[in-house]
Amino acid sequence: MVFRDRAGNVGCLELHCPHRGTSLEYGRVEEDGLRCCYHSWKFAADGKCVDMPCETPKFREKMDVCQPGYPTHEFGGLIFVYMGPPAEMPLFPMYDIYDTRYRGDVVLRGMRLWEDHAIGFVRDCNWLQHYENVVDAYHLLILHAANSGDQFGSVVTTSGWPELTFEETDLGVRYNMLRDLPNGNFLERHAEVVLPNIALIPSIHEQGVDAKEEFRATEVSWAVPVDNEHLYGISIVAWPKDKNGEPLEGWKPGIDTVTEIRLGNLRNRPYEEKQRYPDDMEAQESQRPIAVHALENLGTSDRGIILLRRALKKAVEAVAAGKDPANIVRDEADNHAIKTHAWNTVRLPDIPSEAAE
Ligand code: FES
Ligand SMILES: [Fe+2]
Repeated sequence: MVFRDRAGNVGCLELHCPHRGTSLEYGRVEEDGLRCCYHSWKFAADGKCVDMPCETPKFREKMDVCQPGYPTHEFGGLIFVYMGPPAEMPLFPMYDIYDTRYRGDVVLRGMRLWEDHAIGFVRDCNWLQHYENVVDAYHLLILHAANSGDQFGSVVTTSGWPELTFEETDLGVRYNMLRDLPNGNFLERHAEVVLPNIALIPSIHEQGVDAKEEFRATEVSWAVPVDNEHLYGISIVAWPKDKNGEPLEGWKPGIDTVTEIRLGNLRNRPYEEKQRYPDDMEAQESQRPIAVHALENLGTSDRGIILLRRALKKAVEAVAAGKDPANIVRDEADNHAIKTHAWNTVRLPDIPSEAAE
């Protein structure tokens, strides 16, 4: 149960009151804590019981009840909960996209871009098969273009086969898409997974007209497991400012296509339409509630997925050995605009100057 007291402190506490078990979700928020609705025991944001109004002074004297809870960190309009061992709590990693100490052009907004779903309305499956999709670059060309018609309306899936490779980065894995565009320009595009569960996907609306260098993803999105068979996505959007410093009206996050191209609530589409025009939800959820890796036959086009699985396995082994997994930041000096590697670059053809002619 997460609450904010009137002084602004955020608490994340076990749901059931330690007195007689009533859910604290019905509690009353006060200046310095939350009162259980049943008999008004009051808990501070850190879980310490600070009042028991029905009790005798002698009983209250001890007041040694503590409600279990987790430390929280508020950033970019979201509340993060640390669930690891208290002594090992790392810093909240500050990636370049949302480190507004180093960029003044955006305001940060915590958002569920896809309602209660992850990107592409995916929801009812294990988080990993959704996460792997980020570095499954070939599905862009097949699922989102060749088989279902152009679902992005951009040059990302434009006709013709790009050069596609995959590589490890110092944060995770990315794909490298290089392609000549029909207008004569050149597109370099990378999407990156930042271990353990961040997805960085640069704008899928890219039109390939204006020259740009390393135009980064506008969202940092987390694939959040709800349980083993469900997930949802939540993002910090680096939203451009207007001239008054307010979020620019009418602008759209780079991965948001719901309203323009993928009309309506895709979850409730007629079955036949899902068969004719499948999207991410159909592709990923139908891999089974939990995809069975032993039944897969991975090929050369799945190298991004293989690299990701290896990196995750390494991280799991590190934790098992009592070491830090990937992307744990402990030194404040290292926690500044950490460079991410997902962007669109558009280059115009070299036009010989008059002098050269
Ligand atoms: S059950 Fe919460 S105060 Fe009694
Ligand atoms: Fe997709």
